[in-house]
Amino acid sequence: MAIQTTFLMVKPDGVKRQLIGDIVDRFERKGFVLKGAKLMQISQELAEKHYAEHAEKPFFGELTDFITSGPVFAMVWEGENVISVARLMMGATNPSESAPGTIRGDYSTTVSHNVIHGSDSLASAEREIGLFFNENELH
Ligand code: PPS
Repeated sequence: MAIQTTFLMVKPDGVKRQLIGDIVDRFERKGFVLKGAKLMQISQELAEKHYAEHAEKPFFGELTDFITSGPVFAMVWEGENVISVARLMMGATNPSESAPGTIRGDYSTTVSHNVIHGSDSLASAEREIGLFFNENELH
């Protein structure tokens, strides 16, 4: 049994389309526990830190422009194997490949506007939670 925490974020397209409630509901119904959450505007500096591993990719500018284009809903969730299970629930990064019933499979059509971000490993979860939340914001 591995109780983990992960960082999930409803991206600006998901916030604009009023999908926060549905997304939170899916993770709550699954049985995961919300440890912290906030609606926030990401600065250019935070966007570049968050996506640092993609800095050399041709789409980096598009990625940081998009993630700073409007408020995001940042969350920390806890539960058994939550890092990999949350990614299963999100669906494949490219919505053309994400299964119906997953968040991206149900709500998105393009890889650049794919509604939700989730940490992909223990190390990235720790790093991303530290970038977005102070200790006193987690419960
Ligand atoms: S890679 O190249 O396989 O490492 O990239 P990938 O894991 O598929 O995607 C990393 C994040 O970049 C977003 N992405 C894009 N944004 C804009 N334009 C294009 N073409 C593009 N391709 C990928 C993708 O949604 C991933 O965002 P996160 O927030 O990590 O899910």
